[in-house]
Amino acid sequence: MEVHVSLKGSAQLADSVYRQLKEAVLDGRLRAGEPLPSTRELARRLSVSRNTVMSAFQRLIAEGFLTSRVGAGTFVNETRELRGRRAPAGRALQPRPLWAALSRTEEPPSPDRPEYDFRLGAPDPSLFPWDEWRGLVAHELRGRMPLPTHPPPEGDGRLRTAIARHIGLSRAVLASAEDVLITSGAQQAFDLIGRVLVEPRAPVAVEDPGYPAFGRAMRALGARVVPVPVDGEGLDVSRLPARARAVYVTPSHQFPLGTRMSLARRMALLAWSAQRGAAIIEDDYDSEFRFDGRPLEPLQSLDPSGRVLYVGTFSKVMLPTLRVGFVVAPPSLMPSLRAAKRLTDSHGVLELQRALASFLDEGLFARHLRRMLRAYHERRDRLLSALQTELGHAVVALPSSAGLHVSVRCIDPDVDEEAWVRGAREAGVAVQPLRPYYRLRPHAGLALGYGLIPAAKIAEGIARLAAVSPGRFRPRRH
Ligand SMILES: Cc1ncc(COP(=O)(O)O)c(C=O)c1O
Repeated sequence: MEVHVSLKGSAQLADSVYRQLKEAVLDGRLRAGEPLPSTRELARRLSVSRNTVMSAFQRLIAEGFLTSRVGAGTFVNETRELRGRRAPAGRALQPRPLWAALSRTEEPPSPDRPEYDFRLGAPDPSLFPWDEWRGLVAHELRGRMPLPTHPPPEGDGRLRTAIARHIGLSRAVLASAEDVLITSGAQQAFDLIGRVLVEPRAPVAVEDPGYPAFGRAMRALGARVVPVPVDGEGLDVSRLPARARAVYVTPSHQFPLGTRMSLARRMALLAWSAQRGAAIIEDDYDSEFRFDGRPLEPLQSLDPSGRVLYVGTFSKVMLPTLRVGFVVAPPSLMPSLRAAKRLTDSHGVLELQRALASFLDEGLFARHLRRMLRAYHERRDRLLSALQTELGHAVVALPSSAGLHVSVRCIDPDVDEEAWVRGAREAGVAVQPLRPYYRLRPHAGLALGYGLIPAAKIAEGIARLAAVSPGRFRPRRH
Protein backbone atom coordinates (compact mmCIF):
# COMPACT_ATOMS: atom_id res chain seq x y z
CA MET A 1 0.00 0.00 0.00
CA GLU A 2 1.30 3.48 -0.90
CA VAL A 3 1.04 6.24 1.73
CA HIS A 4 1.80 9.70 0.54
CA VAL A 5 3.30 11.96 3.21
CA SER A 6 4.41 15.43 2.22
CA LEU A 7 7.23 16.85 4.31
CA LYS A 8 7.76 20.57 4.10
CA GLY A 9 10.85 21.87 5.90
CA SER A 10 12.87 19.75 8.21
CA ALA A 11 11.48 20.88 11.57
CA GLN A 12 9.39 18.39 13.51
CA LEU A 13 9.48 15.72 10.87
CA ALA A 14 8.13 13.08 13.24
CA ASP A 15 5.19 15.34 14.08
CA SER A 16 4.42 15.83 10.43
CA VAL A 17 4.50 12.10 9.68
CA TYR A 18 2.31 11.47 12.75
CA ARG A 19 -0.34 14.04 11.78
CA GLN A 20 -0.62 12.97 8.18
CA LEU A 21 -0.94 9.29 8.98
CA LYS A 22 -3.57 10.11 11.61
CA GLU A 23 -5.56 12.14 9.05
CA ALA A 24 -5.35 9.26 6.58
CA VAL A 25 -6.76 6.85 9.19
CA LEU A 26 -9.52 9.26 10.22
CA ASP A 27 -10.73 10.05 6.73
CA GLY A 28 -10.65 6.43 5.67
CA ARG A 29 -7.79 6.53 3.15
CA LEU A 30 -6.12 4.01 5.44
CA ARG A 31 -8.70 1.38 6.25
CA ALA A 32 -9.02 -0.80 9.37
CA GLY A 33 -6.83 -3.89 9.16
CA GLU A 34 -4.59 -2.50 6.45
CA PRO A 35 -0.84 -3.06 6.99
CA LEU A 36 1.54 -0.08 7.02
CA PRO A 37 4.93 -0.23 5.37
CA SER A 38 7.76 -1.12 7.74
CA THR A 39 9.45 1.80 9.51
CA ARG A 40 12.58 1.07 7.53
CA GLU A 41 10.72 1.15 4.20
CA LEU A 42 8.76 4.32 5.02
CA ALA A 43 11.90 6.08 6.25
CA ARG A 44 13.64 5.19 2.99
CA ARG A 45 10.72 6.46 0.88
CA LEU A 46 10.47 9.74 2.80
CA SER A 47 14.22 10.18 3.07
CA VAL A 48 14.06 10.63 6.82
CA SER A 49 15.70 8.70 9.59
CA ARG A 50 14.10 5.49 10.82
CA ASN A 51 13.89 7.05 14.31
CA THR A 52 11.63 9.80 12.94
CA VAL A 53 9.15 7.24 11.56
CA MET A 54 9.40 5.06 14.67
CA SER A 55 8.53 7.95 16.93
CA ALA A 56 5.47 8.84 14.78
CA PHE A 57 4.35 5.18 14.82
CA GLN A 58 4.76 4.97 18.61
CA ARG A 59 2.48 7.96 19.16
CA LEU A 60 -0.14 6.51 16.81
CA ILE A 61 0.03 3.16 18.58
CA ALA A 62 -0.24 4.84 21.98
CA GLU A 63 -3.34 6.76 20.83
CA GLY A 64 -4.99 3.64 19.43
CA PHE A 65 -4.78 4.44 15.71
CA LEU A 66 -2.32 1.64 14.95
CA THR A 67 -1.50 -1.76 16.39
CA SER A 68 1.83 -3.45 16.21
CA ARG A 69 1.90 -7.24 16.00
CA VAL A 70 5.22 -8.87 16.70
CA GLY A 71 6.61 -10.51 13.61
CA ALA A 72 3.68 -9.36 11.44
CA GLY A 73 3.99 -5.57 11.24
CA THR A 74 1.94 -2.49 12.03
CA PHE A 75 -1.77 -2.32 11.19
CA VAL A 76 -4.56 0.25 11.11
CA ASN A 77 -7.12 -0.01 13.92
CA GLU A 78 -10.88 0.40 13.66
CA THR A 79 -11.55 4.10 14.39
CA ARG A 80 -15.26 4.51 13.76
CA GLU A 81 -15.79 6.16 17.15
CA LEU A 82 -12.90 8.56 16.76
CA ARG A 83 -14.11 9.56 13.30
CA GLY A 84 -17.60 10.40 14.57
CA ARG A 85 -16.15 12.82 17.10
CA ARG A 86 -14.22 14.88 14.60
CA ALA A 87 -15.53 18.43 14.33
CA PRO A 88 -15.87 19.78 10.77
CA ALA A 89 -13.43 22.54 9.97
CA GLY A 90 -15.64 25.59 9.35
CA ARG A 91 -19.12 25.40 7.83
CA ALA A 92 -19.49 22.45 5.49
CA LEU A 93 -20.54 23.05 1.88
CA GLN A 94 -24.30 22.98 1.47
CA PRO A 95 -26.33 21.72 -1.52
CA ARG A 96 -29.04 23.79 -3.16
CA PRO A 97 -32.23 23.65 -1.01
CA LEU A 98 -33.98 21.65 -3.76
CA TRP A 99 -31.35 18.92 -3.55
CA ALA A 100 -31.28 18.99 0.23
CA ALA A 101 -35.03 18.31 0.09
CA LEU A 102 -34.62 15.58 -2.53
CA SER A 103 -31.91 13.88 -0.48
CA ARG A 104 -34.44 13.47 2.33
CA THR A 105 -36.64 11.39 0.01
CA GLU A 106 -33.86 8.83 -0.49
CA GLU A 107 -34.86 5.54 1.05
CA PRO A 108 -32.20 3.97 3.27
CA PRO A 109 -31.13 0.57 1.98
CA SER A 110 -32.91 -2.21 3.81
CA PRO A 111 -30.29 -4.02 5.88
CA ASP A 112 -31.84 -7.47 6.01
CA ARG A 113 -33.36 -9.97 3.62
CA PRO A 114 -36.79 -10.76 5.03
CA GLU A 115 -37.76 -14.40 5.12
CA TYR A 116 -40.96 -13.77 3.15
CA ASP A 117 -40.03 -11.07 0.69
CA PHE A 118 -42.98 -9.48 -1.14
CA ARG A 119 -41.12 -6.25 -1.88
CA LEU A 120 -41.70 -4.56 -5.23
CA GLY A 121 -39.46 -3.82 -8.09
CA ALA A 122 -37.05 -6.69 -8.48
CA PRO A 123 -37.09 -9.90 -10.51
CA ASP A 124 -35.64 -13.13 -9.15
CA PRO A 125 -31.86 -13.20 -9.73
CA SER A 126 -31.91 -17.00 -9.37
CA LEU A 127 -33.93 -17.18 -12.61
CA PHE A 128 -31.38 -15.11 -14.52
CA PRO A 129 -29.43 -17.07 -17.16
CA TRP A 130 -26.04 -16.28 -15.65
CA ASP A 131 -24.02 -18.76 -17.74
CA GLU A 132 -25.31 -17.56 -21.09
CA TRP A 133 -24.97 -13.94 -20.07
CA ARG A 134 -21.42 -14.45 -18.81
CA GLY A 135 -20.49 -16.04 -22.17
CA LEU A 136 -21.84 -13.09 -24.15
CA VAL A 137 -20.20 -10.46 -21.94
CA ALA A 138 -16.89 -12.37 -21.95
CA HIS A 139 -17.04 -12.46 -25.75
CA GLU A 140 -17.36 -8.67 -25.84
CA LEU A 141 -14.54 -8.23 -23.34
CA ARG A 142 -12.10 -10.20 -25.46
CA GLY A 143 -11.45 -6.93 -27.22
CA ARG A 144 -11.67 -8.38 -30.72
CA MET A 145 -14.35 -5.99 -31.91
CA PRO A 146 -13.11 -2.65 -33.22
CA LEU A 147 -14.07 0.14 -30.83
CA PRO A 148 -15.76 3.11 -32.45
CA THR A 149 -13.67 6.25 -32.11
CA HIS A 150 -16.75 8.33 -31.41
CA PRO A 151 -19.43 6.06 -29.95
CA PRO A 152 -22.94 7.30 -30.67
CA PRO A 153 -24.78 8.70 -27.63
CA GLU A 154 -27.94 6.87 -28.70
CA GLY A 155 -26.17 3.56 -28.00
CA ASP A 156 -25.16 0.46 -29.93
CA GLY A 157 -26.86 0.22 -33.33
CA ARG A 158 -27.41 -3.54 -33.21
CA LEU A 159 -29.14 -3.26 -29.83
CA ARG A 160 -31.36 -0.45 -31.07
CA THR A 161 -32.38 -2.59 -34.04
CA ALA A 162 -33.03 -5.60 -31.78
CA ILE A 163 -35.12 -3.50 -29.38
CA ALA A 164 -37.17 -1.96 -32.20
CA ARG A 165 -37.91 -5.47 -33.49
CA HIS A 166 -38.71 -6.84 -30.02
CA ILE A 167 -41.16 -4.09 -29.04
CA GLY A 168 -42.60 -4.05 -32.56
CA LEU A 169 -43.46 -7.74 -32.30
CA SER A 170 -44.39 -8.08 -28.65
CA ARG A 171 -45.99 -4.68 -27.99
CA ALA A 172 -46.91 -3.38 -31.48
CA VAL A 173 -44.81 -0.28 -30.83
CA LEU A 174 -44.14 1.48 -34.13
CA ALA A 175 -40.40 2.11 -34.18
CA SER A 176 -37.27 1.61 -36.21
CA ALA A 177 -33.74 1.66 -34.80
CA GLU A 178 -33.49 5.42 -35.49
CA ASP A 179 -36.32 6.07 -33.04
CA VAL A 180 -34.65 4.23 -30.14
CA LEU A 181 -32.21 5.80 -27.70
CA ILE A 182 -30.55 3.49 -25.16
CA THR A 183 -30.45 4.83 -21.61
CA SER A 184 -29.18 3.78 -18.22
CA GLY A 185 -32.54 2.35 -17.15
CA ALA A 186 -35.94 3.99 -17.45
CA GLN A 187 -34.84 6.51 -14.85
CA GLN A 188 -32.30 8.11 -17.16
CA ALA A 189 -34.88 8.20 -19.92
CA PHE A 190 -37.17 10.23 -17.61
CA ASP A 191 -34.34 12.60 -16.79
CA LEU A 192 -33.37 13.16 -20.43
CA ILE A 193 -36.99 13.65 -21.50
CA GLY A 194 -37.49 16.19 -18.71
CA ARG A 195 -34.35 18.07 -19.72
CA VAL A 196 -35.35 18.47 -23.34
CA LEU A 197 -39.10 19.04 -22.87
CA VAL A 198 -39.85 20.75 -19.60
CA GLU A 199 -39.20 24.41 -18.82
CA PRO A 200 -38.53 25.36 -15.19
CA ARG A 201 -41.80 25.69 -13.26
CA ALA A 202 -43.82 24.10 -16.07
CA PRO A 203 -46.57 21.77 -14.80
CA VAL A 204 -45.98 18.05 -15.35
CA ALA A 205 -48.91 15.76 -14.53
CA VAL A 206 -48.35 12.43 -12.81
CA GLU A 207 -50.66 9.61 -11.75
CA ASP A 208 -51.85 9.57 -8.15
CA PRO A 209 -51.01 7.14 -6.67
CA GLY A 210 -47.90 6.90 -8.79
CA TYR A 211 -44.25 6.06 -9.25
CA PRO A 212 -42.37 8.49 -7.00
CA ALA A 213 -39.04 8.38 -8.83
CA PHE A 214 -40.56 10.00 -11.92
CA GLY A 215 -41.97 12.95 -9.97
CA ARG A 216 -38.66 13.42 -8.16
CA ALA A 217 -36.75 13.53 -11.44
CA MET A 218 -39.08 16.27 -12.64
CA ARG A 219 -38.80 18.21 -9.38
CA ALA A 220 -35.03 18.03 -9.71
CA LEU A 221 -35.37 19.78 -13.06
CA GLY A 222 -37.50 22.52 -11.54
CA ALA A 223 -40.86 21.33 -12.90
CA ARG A 224 -44.09 21.68 -10.95
CA VAL A 225 -45.40 18.16 -10.38
CA VAL A 226 -49.21 17.97 -10.38
CA PRO A 227 -50.85 14.77 -9.11
CA VAL A 228 -53.92 13.60 -11.05
CA PRO A 229 -56.17 10.89 -9.56
CA VAL A 230 -56.34 7.39 -10.99
CA ASP A 231 -59.58 5.38 -10.90
CA GLY A 232 -60.51 1.90 -12.10
CA GLU A 233 -59.98 2.95 -15.74
CA GLY A 234 -56.65 4.69 -15.22
CA LEU A 235 -55.71 8.36 -15.07
CA ASP A 236 -58.75 10.65 -14.89
CA VAL A 237 -58.15 12.71 -18.04
CA SER A 238 -60.84 15.24 -17.10
CA ARG A 239 -58.71 16.28 -14.09
CA LEU A 240 -55.54 17.08 -16.05
CA PRO A 241 -54.21 20.60 -15.50
CA ALA A 242 -54.87 22.80 -18.51
CA ARG A 243 -51.31 23.88 -19.12
CA ALA A 244 -49.44 20.64 -18.42
CA ARG A 245 -46.39 20.31 -20.62
CA ALA A 246 -46.25 16.54 -20.19
CA VAL A 247 -48.14 13.74 -18.49
CA TYR A 248 -46.62 10.54 -17.15
CA VAL A 249 -48.65 7.31 -17.24
CA THR A 250 -48.21 3.56 -16.72
CA PRO A 251 -51.13 2.33 -18.87
CA SER A 252 -50.30 -1.40 -19.12
CA HIS A 253 -49.88 -1.96 -15.39
CA GLN A 254 -50.54 1.11 -13.31
CA PHE A 255 -47.90 1.67 -10.69
CA PRO A 256 -48.64 0.79 -7.92
CA LEU A 257 -52.32 -0.27 -8.28
CA GLY A 258 -51.65 -2.74 -11.11
CA THR A 259 -54.78 -1.84 -13.10
CA ARG A 260 -54.87 -1.27 -16.86
CA MET A 261 -55.90 1.96 -18.56
CA SER A 262 -59.12 1.40 -20.53
CA LEU A 263 -59.21 1.97 -24.27
CA ALA A 264 -61.67 4.84 -23.82
CA ARG A 265 -59.24 6.57 -21.44
CA ARG A 266 -56.33 5.98 -23.78
CA MET A 267 -58.21 7.65 -26.60
CA ALA A 268 -59.28 10.53 -24.32
CA LEU A 269 -55.69 11.05 -23.18
CA LEU A 270 -54.41 11.12 -26.77
CA ALA A 271 -57.12 13.59 -27.76
CA TRP A 272 -56.22 15.78 -24.77
CA SER A 273 -52.53 15.77 -25.67
CA ALA A 274 -53.22 16.60 -29.33
CA GLN A 275 -55.45 19.48 -28.28
CA ARG A 276 -52.98 20.92 -25.76
CA GLY A 277 -49.74 20.12 -27.56
CA ALA A 278 -48.56 18.20 -24.48
CA ALA A 279 -46.30 15.15 -24.43
CA ILE A 280 -47.29 11.77 -23.02
CA ILE A 281 -44.59 9.76 -21.29
CA GLU A 282 -45.69 6.12 -21.46
CA ASP A 283 -43.78 3.96 -18.97
CA ASP A 284 -44.13 0.30 -20.00
CA TYR A 285 -41.89 -0.96 -17.22
CA ASP A 286 -43.09 -4.54 -16.70
CA SER A 287 -45.69 -5.39 -19.32
CA GLU A 288 -43.59 -8.21 -20.79
CA PHE A 289 -45.09 -10.27 -17.97
CA ARG A 290 -48.61 -10.55 -19.29
CA PHE A 291 -50.76 -13.30 -17.82
CA ASP A 292 -54.29 -12.98 -19.06
CA GLY A 293 -56.56 -10.81 -21.11
CA ARG A 294 -55.82 -9.40 -24.52
CA PRO A 295 -53.20 -6.68 -24.28
CA LEU A 296 -54.38 -3.21 -25.21
CA GLU A 297 -52.43 -1.21 -27.75
CA PRO A 298 -49.76 0.98 -26.21
CA LEU A 299 -50.51 4.70 -26.44
CA GLN A 300 -47.49 5.00 -28.70
CA SER A 301 -49.06 2.89 -31.43
CA LEU A 302 -52.49 4.52 -31.08
CA ASP A 303 -50.99 7.96 -31.53
CA PRO A 304 -51.03 9.43 -35.02
CA SER A 305 -49.46 12.74 -34.02
CA GLY A 306 -46.11 11.69 -32.55
CA ARG A 307 -46.71 13.01 -29.03
CA VAL A 308 -45.96 9.85 -27.10
CA LEU A 309 -42.54 8.99 -25.71
CA TYR A 310 -42.47 5.28 -24.99
CA VAL A 311 -40.07 4.24 -22.21
CA GLY A 312 -39.00 0.64 -21.63
CA THR A 313 -36.50 -1.05 -19.35
CA PHE A 314 -34.62 -4.33 -18.97
CA SER A 315 -34.70 -3.94 -15.17
CA LYS A 316 -37.61 -6.35 -14.75
CA VAL A 317 -37.02 -8.78 -17.60
CA MET A 318 -33.28 -9.04 -17.01
CA LEU A 319 -31.79 -7.39 -13.91
CA PRO A 320 -32.18 -3.89 -12.45
CA THR A 321 -28.42 -3.75 -11.87
CA LEU A 322 -27.67 -3.93 -15.62
CA ARG A 323 -29.04 -0.40 -15.99
CA VAL A 324 -30.32 -0.74 -19.53
CA GLY A 325 -33.49 0.99 -20.64
CA PHE A 326 -34.60 2.93 -23.70
CA VAL A 327 -36.90 5.58 -25.02
CA VAL A 328 -38.72 5.55 -28.33
CA ALA A 329 -39.10 9.21 -29.23
CA PRO A 330 -40.60 11.14 -32.15
CA PRO A 331 -38.03 12.40 -34.71
CA SER A 332 -38.61 16.01 -33.61
CA LEU A 333 -37.05 15.25 -30.21
CA MET A 334 -34.34 12.77 -31.10
CA PRO A 335 -31.49 15.24 -31.84
CA SER A 336 -32.02 16.99 -28.50
CA LEU A 337 -32.28 13.71 -26.62
CA ARG A 338 -29.01 12.59 -28.22
CA ALA A 339 -27.37 15.87 -27.15
CA ALA A 340 -28.72 15.50 -23.60
CA LYS A 341 -27.45 11.94 -23.45
CA ARG A 342 -24.02 12.98 -24.70
CA LEU A 343 -23.78 15.63 -22.00
CA THR A 344 -25.03 13.33 -19.27
CA ASP A 345 -22.92 10.21 -19.63
CA SER A 346 -21.91 9.94 -23.26
CA HIS A 347 -23.01 6.54 -24.56
CA GLY A 348 -23.34 4.08 -21.66
CA VAL A 349 -21.46 0.77 -21.50
CA LEU A 350 -21.15 -0.42 -25.10
CA GLU A 351 -19.83 -3.88 -24.21
CA LEU A 352 -22.97 -4.59 -22.17
CA GLN A 353 -25.19 -3.18 -24.89
CA ARG A 354 -23.58 -5.47 -27.46
CA ALA A 355 -23.94 -8.48 -25.21
CA LEU A 356 -27.62 -7.64 -24.78
CA ALA A 357 -28.02 -7.26 -28.55
CA SER A 358 -26.66 -10.80 -29.02
CA PHE A 359 -28.92 -12.04 -26.21
CA LEU A 360 -31.92 -10.71 -28.11
CA ASP A 361 -30.72 -11.68 -31.60
CA GLU A 362 -29.84 -15.25 -30.69
CA GLY A 363 -33.29 -15.98 -29.25
CA LEU A 364 -31.97 -16.29 -25.68
CA PHE A 365 -34.11 -13.42 -24.49
CA ALA A 366 -37.30 -15.01 -25.84
CA ARG A 367 -36.42 -18.28 -24.09
CA HIS A 368 -35.58 -16.49 -20.84
CA LEU A 369 -38.84 -14.58 -20.99
CA ARG A 370 -40.86 -17.78 -21.47
CA ARG A 371 -39.19 -19.32 -18.39
CA MET A 372 -39.79 -16.20 -16.33
CA LEU A 373 -43.41 -16.03 -17.43
CA ARG A 374 -44.04 -19.60 -16.30
CA ALA A 375 -42.38 -19.01 -12.94
CA TYR A 376 -44.10 -15.70 -12.23
CA HIS A 377 -47.46 -16.96 -13.44
CA GLU A 378 -47.32 -19.71 -10.86
CA ARG A 379 -46.28 -17.30 -8.12
CA ARG A 380 -49.05 -14.88 -9.04
CA ASP A 381 -51.70 -17.61 -9.00
CA ARG A 382 -50.52 -18.81 -5.60
CA LEU A 383 -50.46 -15.27 -4.26
CA LEU A 384 -53.98 -14.47 -5.45
CA SER A 385 -55.35 -17.70 -4.07
CA ALA A 386 -53.58 -17.26 -0.70
CA LEU A 387 -54.90 -13.70 -0.47
CA GLN A 388 -58.40 -14.97 -1.12
CA THR A 389 -58.18 -17.77 1.44
CA GLU A 390 -56.36 -15.95 4.22
CA LEU A 391 -57.42 -12.35 3.77
CA GLY A 392 -60.53 -12.43 1.59
CA HIS A 393 -62.58 -10.87 4.42
CA ALA A 394 -60.15 -7.95 4.80
CA VAL A 395 -58.82 -6.99 1.38
CA VAL A 396 -59.84 -6.96 -2.28
CA ALA A 397 -57.22 -7.75 -4.92
CA LEU A 398 -57.24 -5.13 -7.67
CA PRO A 399 -57.56 -6.47 -11.21
CA SER A 400 -54.16 -6.81 -12.82
CA SER A 401 -53.19 -8.82 -15.87
CA ALA A 402 -49.48 -8.13 -16.08
CA GLY A 403 -46.35 -7.28 -14.17
CA LEU A 404 -44.53 -8.45 -11.08
CA HIS A 405 -46.86 -7.34 -8.32
CA VAL A 406 -50.51 -7.15 -7.30
CA SER A 407 -52.10 -4.59 -5.07
CA VAL A 408 -54.95 -5.03 -2.64
CA ARG A 409 -57.34 -2.51 -1.12
CA CYS A 410 -58.33 -2.82 2.51
CA ILE A 411 -62.10 -3.16 2.78
CA ASP A 412 -61.97 -0.83 5.78
CA PRO A 413 -60.49 2.37 4.29
CA ASP A 414 -59.38 3.63 7.72
CA VAL A 415 -57.28 0.67 8.67
CA ASP A 416 -53.75 1.59 9.79
CA GLU A 417 -51.98 -0.40 7.12
CA GLU A 418 -48.59 1.02 8.04
CA ALA A 419 -48.88 -0.51 11.51
CA TRP A 420 -49.89 -3.77 9.84
CA VAL A 421 -46.80 -3.60 7.62
CA ARG A 422 -44.57 -3.02 10.68
CA GLY A 423 -46.15 -5.98 12.46
CA ALA A 424 -45.65 -8.14 9.37
CA ARG A 425 -42.02 -7.15 9.22
CA GLU A 426 -41.54 -8.38 12.77
CA ALA A 427 -43.07 -11.68 11.66
CA GLY A 428 -40.51 -11.90 8.82
CA VAL A 429 -42.83 -10.69 6.04
CA ALA A 430 -42.00 -7.64 3.89
CA VAL A 431 -44.90 -5.94 2.08
CA GLN A 432 -45.40 -2.38 0.96
CA PRO A 433 -48.20 -0.05 2.15
CA LEU A 434 -49.99 1.82 -0.64
CA ARG A 435 -50.48 5.03 1.33
CA PRO A 436 -47.01 6.56 0.63
CA TYR A 437 -47.68 6.47 -3.13
CA TYR A 438 -50.59 8.91 -2.81
CA ARG A 439 -50.50 12.70 -2.66
CA LEU A 440 -54.25 13.24 -2.90
CA ARG A 441 -56.76 10.92 -1.19
CA PRO A 442 -55.08 7.75 0.00
CA HIS A 443 -56.95 4.51 0.37
CA ALA A 444 -55.49 1.90 2.72
CA GLY A 445 -53.97 -1.03 0.89
CA LEU A 446 -50.89 -3.11 0.24
CA ALA A 447 -48.72 -3.85 -2.77
CA LEU A 448 -47.24 -7.33 -2.94
CA GLY A 449 -44.44 -8.24 -5.30
CA TYR A 450 -43.76 -11.82 -6.42
CA GLY A 451 -40.43 -11.19 -8.13
CA LEU A 452 -38.32 -12.19 -5.16
CA ILE A 453 -40.33 -14.77 -3.23
CA PRO A 454 -40.14 -18.43 -4.27
CA ALA A 455 -43.52 -20.02 -5.08
CA ALA A 456 -43.19 -22.48 -2.19
CA LYS A 457 -43.05 -19.69 0.40
CA ILE A 458 -46.02 -17.64 -0.74
CA ALA A 459 -48.82 -19.40 1.17
CA GLU A 460 -46.92 -19.30 4.47
CA GLY A 461 -45.96 -15.64 3.92
CA ILE A 462 -49.59 -14.63 3.41
CA ALA A 463 -50.71 -16.74 6.37
CA ARG A 464 -48.25 -14.83 8.54
CA LEU A 465 -49.45 -11.54 7.11
CA ALA A 466 -53.03 -12.52 7.97
CA ALA A 467 -52.01 -13.57 11.48
CA VAL A 468 -50.81 -10.04 12.26
CA SER A 469 -53.61 -8.21 10.46
CA PRO A 470 -55.49 -5.62 12.49
CA GLY A 471 -57.74 -7.26 15.12
CA ARG A 472 -61.08 -7.03 13.42
CA PHE A 473 -59.70 -8.69 10.30
CA ARG A 474 -58.42 -11.76 12.04
CA PRO A 475 -60.19 -14.67 10.35
CA ARG A 476 -62.66 -16.44 12.56
CA ARG A 477 -61.76 -20.11 12.76
CA HIS A 478 -64.62 -22.50 13.48
C1 LIG B 1 -43.04 2.30 -12.51
C2 LIG B 1 -41.60 1.99 -12.77
N1 LIG B 1 -41.03 2.50 -13.87
C3 LIG B 1 -39.74 2.22 -14.17
C4 LIG B 1 -38.99 1.40 -13.36
C5 LIG B 1 -37.62 0.95 -13.79
O1 LIG B 1 -36.65 1.80 -13.52
P1 LIG B 1 -35.18 1.52 -14.06
O2 LIG B 1 -35.27 1.04 -15.48
O3 LIG B 1 -34.55 2.85 -13.95
O4 LIG B 1 -34.58 0.47 -13.18
C6 LIG B 1 -39.52 0.89 -12.19
C7 LIG B 1 -38.68 0.11 -11.28
O5 LIG B 1 -38.94 -0.17 -10.16
C8 LIG B 1 -40.87 1.17 -11.91
O6 LIG B 1 -41.46 0.66 -10.82
